[in-house]
Amino acid sequence: MTAMSELQRWFVLCRLDELPIEGARGFDLAQRGIDDVFIVRKHAMLRCYRNACPHWPGATLPWRRHAYLDGNANYIVCHGHGARFEIGSGLCVLGPCSGARLEQVSLRIDDTGAISIAWPG
Ligand code: FES
Repeated sequence: MTAMSELQRWFVLCRLDELPIEGARGFDLAQRGIDDVFIVRKHAMLRCYRNACPHWPGATLPWRRHAYLDGNANYIVCHGHGARFEIGSGLCVLGPCSGARLEQVSLRIDDTGAISIAWPG
């Protein structure tokens, strides 16, 4: 989890029970028609990343909405040139940006199951 700056606030995205047990979901926070961030859930593990591939400035990852993972839900995949990223760390382990990382976004879950992220506000 990354540190939260003073310019950020907690922003509720969804509830835990709205996410697939193994899968990903994107969120269009700025209402631009493009997801700004996505959450990956793999059983008890939850991560949130910006929808921005480190290989190419401005590139987004999925080929269609919410399609952030490979077929086995083992890696995050960028459709641009096939880069694969570890779900837990965001580290690129295969592809043209090997060694680079997705930008992780701080995330928390409250007692009601609401998931929030630290986001500029
Ligand atoms: S834009 Fe993501 S791998 Fe090239």
